[in-house]
Amino acid sequence: MAVRMVVRSLALAALMLAACMVLARATNPGFVARITEKGLDYARQEGIAALEKKLAKLKLPDFSGSFKVKPFGNVHYEFYSLDLRSFQLPSSQIVPVPNVGLRVSVSKAFAHLTGKWKVKKRFIKDHGSFDLKVEGISISIGLKLGSDASGRPTVTTSECSTQISNVRIHISGRFGWLYKLFHKKIESSFRKTMESKVCEEVTSSVSTQLQPYLQTLPVTTKIDNVAGIDYSLVAPPVATAQCLDVNLKGEFFSLAHRLPAPFPPPALAFPTEHDRMVYLGASSYFFNTAGFVYQTAGVLVFNITDDMVPKGVEFHLNTSTFSAFIPKLEKLYPDRLMKLQVMTSSAPSLTITPGGLSLMPVVDIQAYAILSNSSLAPLFLLSLTSNISATVAVNSSRIGGTLALGRLKLSLKHSDVGPFSVQLLQSLMNIYGSKILLPRLNERLKAGFPLPLPDRIKLSSILLQPHQNFLLLAADVHYG
Ligand SMILES: *[C@@H]1O[C@H](CO)[C@@H](O)[C@H](O)[C@H]1NC(C)=O
Ligand SMILES: *[C@@H]1O[C@H](CO)[C@@H](O)[C@H](O)[C@H]1NC(C)=O
Ligand SMILES: *[C@@H]1O[C@H](CO)[C@@H](O)[C@H](O)[C@H]1NC(C)=O
Ligand SMILES: *[C@@H]1O[C@H](CO)[C@@H](O)[C@H](O)[C@H]1NC(C)=O
Ligand SMILES: *[C@@H]1O[C@H](CO)[C@@H](O)[C@H](O)[C@H]1NC(C)=O
Repeated sequence: MAVRMVVRSLALAALMLAACMVLARATNPGFVARITEKGLDYARQEGIAALEKKLAKLKLPDFSGSFKVKPFGNVHYEFYSLDLRSFQLPSSQIVPVPNVGLRVSVSKAFAHLTGKWKVKKRFIKDHGSFDLKVEGISISIGLKLGSDASGRPTVTTSECSTQISNVRIHISGRFGWLYKLFHKKIESSFRKTMESKVCEEVTSSVSTQLQPYLQTLPVTTKIDNVAGIDYSLVAPPVATAQCLDVNLKGEFFSLAHRLPAPFPPPALAFPTEHDRMVYLGASSYFFNTAGFVYQTAGVLVFNITDDMVPKGVEFHLNTSTFSAFIPKLEKLYPDRLMKLQVMTSSAPSLTITPGGLSLMPVVDIQAYAILSNSSLAPLFLLSLTSNISATVAVNSSRIGGTLALGRLKLSLKHSDVGPFSVQLLQSLMNIYGSKILLPRLNERLKAGFPLPLPDRIKLSSILLQPHQNFLLLAADVHYG
């Protein structure tokens, strides 16, 4: 029994996995946004609320006609000043439609109208008001999702049908028998008009409200003077039975000179969790294109000077401090301040595994003595690697991070001041690294980068989870 249940739930999980793993296309995305049923449902609520407002302003045309009454002949009628008092959509649902997009179904909607009428036929002349109740309105809307040339999402109404099951008109006036005669005609006339008007309104709402809204997705965002992020869609959104996946390029690019990244985005094996509204997957590719762009631009260079040494740190950046480890220094450059130029020798690359995020940058450190005429005398060149662990933080709209320095490994690449033991410099470099370099780096990283969210969307209940090659960010959204 238990075994059978396990087997069945495994089969189900495998099925869902298969359904949601259509991700692996020709080019893998650098960033994935998955909208779960819960997220689609939230979108439905917001969308239906907007549609309800729009429908409440529906303008229905006057209509007139004539009907035959024995023995009088044709009686002319007119209905005018139609006023929609309310239009309510109490019940609706949304489902993803594989390979198309979404279907929204509204049922049990109702509307209430009032208006004026008059009839005329020689001696028969009457006018008054009427009250119309339209009930059992069902609307079925097909939404086709796509992407345009700039990689922005698009939506069109692929189909719309409205059916009204019940129209009841109450006409007040003197000639009750007369109105009974044209009830049916009026009701069916109303039904037809309303059915086409509702779909007209739906189609116009989709093209004038929903589409422009989706296009607020920031497909390119400038980060600073060096780089931007490309969040354009690499393909139309993919609807599966359970969710909607939006695959974004998710890469940093140089504002000055865009080059393709020298590594491909890895495939992402998305988990099948679904208790949050959205799941965002930031591939290691996303972070590593940042490293590539900043490295190529030559901006990953940091100078450390003595004025940056914080109060409380005993070790000033000068030759007397260093002469404790490098005997010849005191003689060659007595009492000089020093400068350390730190630069990555290759693009830093972030490794993401279920165990966490880490990077192992290789950094060159060139030390100089600052001479009295302020020119620099090269002292030595060190190569440094360190195991740096990264922690990512996300707030309602941005992703940022902090780095923590692990153990440093130093080696001497070149010395202008004779041989010395780099091991002795270890703790000194550790102090400069952790007290000077890292706080500045973290300051910048904390500011973070914008997430690919359309206007007025804020994330909440955020959960971060590293997976193989990507960081999963689960969240609920709020539109407001
Ligand atoms: C770092 O120092 C070098 C050498 O003095 C200088 O050329 C460079 O402009 C400095 N870079 C920054 C970012 O301050
Ligand atoms: C060099 O640093 C030491 C402490 O490390 C300090 O006592 C000394 O005053 C500094 N010298 C200069 C020239 O700044
Ligand atoms: C600065 O002084 C050093 C030695 O004192 C000398 O070799 C160098 O040419 C000077 N540089 C400039 C720019 O004057
Ligand atoms: C780097 O640090 C992480 C976490 O501190 C650790 O799990 C990992 O084994 C370290 N890797 C190396 C190569 O030291
Ligand atoms: C999110 O974090 C960034 C960077 O720390 C900050 O500038 C921004 O104000 C934060 N936004 C909110 C809504 O807290």
